[in-house]
Amino acid sequence: MARDDKLKLGTFVYTFGFNPAAWLHPDSDVNGATDIQHLLNVAKISEAAKFDFMFMADSPAAAIGDPDALSRSPTKMNRFEPLSLIAALSVLTERLGFVATASTSYYEPFNIARLFASIDHLSGGRACWNVVTSDHDETGYNFNREGLDPHALRYERGAEFVDVVFGLWDSFEPDALLLDRDSGRYYDRDKLHTLDHKGKHFQVRGPLNIAASPQGRPIIAQAGGSEAGMELAARTAEIVFSLASNRERNLAFAENVKGRMAKYGRDRRDLKMMPGVVLHVGATKAEAQAKADFLTDSLHPDVGRWMLSEFLEADLAGVPLDEPFPMERLPAEPKGSKALFEELTDFVKQGHTVRELIRHYTEKSTGNGIIGTPVEIADFMQEWFETGAADGFILMFPTLPASLTDFVDLVLPELRRRGLFREEYEGRTLRENLSISMPANRYAAARKGE
Ligand SMILES: Cc1cc2nc3c(=O)[nH]c(=O)nc-3n(C[C@H](O)[C@H](O)[C@H](O)COP(=O)(O)O)c2cc1C
Repeated sequence: MARDDKLKLGTFVYTFGFNPAAWLHPDSDVNGATDIQHLLNVAKISEAAKFDFMFMADSPAAAIGDPDALSRSPTKMNRFEPLSLIAALSVLTERLGFVATASTSYYEPFNIARLFASIDHLSGGRACWNVVTSDHDETGYNFNREGLDPHALRYERGAEFVDVVFGLWDSFEPDALLLDRDSGRYYDRDKLHTLDHKGKHFQVRGPLNIAASPQGRPIIAQAGGSEAGMELAARTAEIVFSLASNRERNLAFAENVKGRMAKYGRDRRDLKMMPGVVLHVGATKAEAQAKADFLTDSLHPDVGRWMLSEFLEADLAGVPLDEPFPMERLPAEPKGSKALFEELTDFVKQGHTVRELIRHYTEKSTGNGIIGTPVEIADFMQEWFETGAADGFILMFPTLPASLTDFVDLVLPELRRRGLFREEYEGRTLRENLSISMPANRYAAARKGE
């Protein structure tokens, strides 16, 4: 079914690319982790391509585990703090949106409200907060805890956290600033509001000490897959990142989340479902496959073994690589994706060695998407878009900037030829480009009797 809107696209950023071996690729910038020029280059390419945004995934902790594997796998070990980074990038660009991840489990709402409102002003309305409750064990140890808080508690705190932030963002009504030198009145005192929130997790007086931001409030992204996550998204999110495991499942997920929006008085067009997809593109299928194989072949077995043991929650230290996988180390239940776990279990039962399983796992876990020609990738995106399984995609480029450049050079022209992607930005703010309605300031709405 043809749609009257266009695909939304975002660049997912892990410093060197989504693949853990990306930093070993000859085209990646090995100094890039703390080099603004590398990230600015990724932003500039994304902006020239008219992408909606660049997304800084994050968790506030270094990874923990096998020190040898960690020393070969820098993604979480050396990276910019995302809000500082997007503040810098946003003043060096003009139209691209910036999504930064920040956790409701480890910040205070006032900090987040202030930081994102500031970045929304700095960027002229291009800021987005990716709201996470954090699901990585390692994070808690940095914030006065022995590991993660229970899931339900994290979401209870998270939901209240978001409400407080929204309340703070409404502190100044949009037309509160008078800037009247004659009367000596800088703002209309009736249009500044003190929140006075007293809840289970937070006590916050307010008001926020920064004027209403260009987007009314920054865009809200989320990626929760649980019941509580879907409910929070239906109530508050404007972008939802999902896992592109298969089209039918994503369509059901999209319908599930969007179907919950009406009870919160929201229009489903105000939420963009954007599955994360890993793309290896080549002029021919063989070329695309060779790019994927290069990364799989470059990944050190210790890193693969560590990733697999994290996924299986099994200690695989010392397990010989060239012997069959010891079945007794397989857990009964997976921590993460059940589908991937079942796939691995079937593979193990076929008698493959540990080395083969590691390769299979890394291919599956880092290759959740498609290896193909521009036409194949455009077909895939078009089918998901037109059937409502996706409103766009968060593109998890295996290497940066190399795979981003491949996509821009090879796939974008095909998407544009089919009328699926914009030629030019529609607006100046991220909200305008995503075509998401402006939220009403609660006090201004009450004044107007809405
Ligand atoms: C595409 C995508 C990107 C994500 N990025 C992050 C991230 O940057 N930081 C983070 O802590 N979690 C991230 N997550 C995890 C989700 O926030 C969420 O914790 C996870 O999907 C589990 O859902 P649940 O918390 O509702 O159980 C991401 C998930 C997806 C699908």
